[in-house]
Amino acid sequence: MMNFCLFGAGRIGKIHAANVALNGNAALRHVVDVDAAAAGDLAARHGAAVSDADSALGDPAVDAVIITSSTDTHKTLVEQACRAGKAVFCEKPVDLDSARVREVLSVVEETGVPFFVAFNRRFDPSFAALQKKVRDGRVGKVEQVIITSRDPGPPPVGYIKASGGLFRDMMIHDFDMARWLLGEEPTEVYAVASCMVDPAIGEAGDVDTAAVTLRTASGAFCQITNSRRAVYGYDQRVEVFGSAGMLRAGNRTATTVEYSGGEGVATDKPLDFFLERYAEAYRIELDRFIEAVGKGEKPSPGGEDGLRSLLLADAATESARSGKPVPV
Ligand SMILES: NC(=O)c1ccc[n+]([C@@H]2O[C@H](COP(=O)([O-])OP(=O)(O)OC[C@H]3O[C@@H](n4cnc5c(N)ncnc54)[C@H](O)[C@@H]3O)[C@@H](O)[C@H]2O)c1
Repeated sequence: MMNFCLFGAGRIGKIHAANVALNGNAALRHVVDVDAAAAGDLAARHGAAVSDADSALGDPAVDAVIITSSTDTHKTLVEQACRAGKAVFCEKPVDLDSARVREVLSVVEETGVPFFVAFNRRFDPSFAALQKKVRDGRVGKVEQVIITSRDPGPPPVGYIKASGGLFRDMMIHDFDMARWLLGEEPTEVYAVASCMVDPAIGEAGDVDTAAVTLRTASGAFCQITNSRRAVYGYDQRVEVFGSAGMLRAGNRTATTVEYSGGEGVATDKPLDFFLERYAEAYRIELDRFIEAVGKGEKPSPGGEDGLRSLLLADAATESARSGKPVPV
């Protein structure tokens, strides 16, 4: 059995707590949240204790932690958990500042604890099957990757202000996907971005519409398109084109029912939003973490993946500001 302590009983914390319960080899022992009511509700649902960080991390029965608290708390909690010798499952991003991520990684290295960064999209069954075919050589040499990632609607402006900006908050998932699908590191980033969805997002200093091209040393490139609003639902698609063919993974719908009539053909909208679209991915990523740590293997993606995707986000932010390509 792997015993967990969970930090942050919010939206994503509830999902991971439910997935601990679904995994036959894991149990939730402690829930820690500065919001006592949120901690109490989640702990009661899973038969866990409401604890503070010191007592939870001091419990020798705890093997691992899940960090799903607000991003600005990740660094302190990861470092505390590492020093307590607990394996760490940390939500993305590790931090919004690459210097601080490097500090976290040096504590991870010094303490030698397993460290996992929760880039859940890698565990979506369709994306995982597509990536495996790419690595198996089914499209030959990868030349072009196209990632489309559009949210159904923008978050509140209060969220935007603390988010670190679209590239670090939203596109960071796509930067990780790009590295994973390309199979080589981007060396140059060119970004264009606008505010077209909500003027309040622009007033808060952020963008809501962006396109980025990443180029690798071999000459392959990846194009990522993000929008904070798609009227037809959560738009999550991937295409990989290479010398021997093309692979594509499309949107998921609630049902496969298709209506055909005189005016055209219609299906359900894509699943809306990430909690539904990536429900399986969240379950599988936690199962993989438990399996890897149980076998004494290094969980993946790890700290280096967290850092590299943030460096791409930093470069894209700089490129969108300067209008020039930025080397990575
Ligand atoms: N991988 C994904 O798809 C995905 C999706 C959503 C959120 N996230 C990430 O997960 C994290 C949480 O996001 P959310 O949407 O669940 O936020 P949320 O606001 O719903 O929940 C965060 C919780 O953390 C608690 N908290 C704040 N400071 C704390 C501390 N010091 N100790 C313990 N708890 C504390 C808050 O009270 C709140 O209950 C963020 O880093 C976010 O980027 C990832």
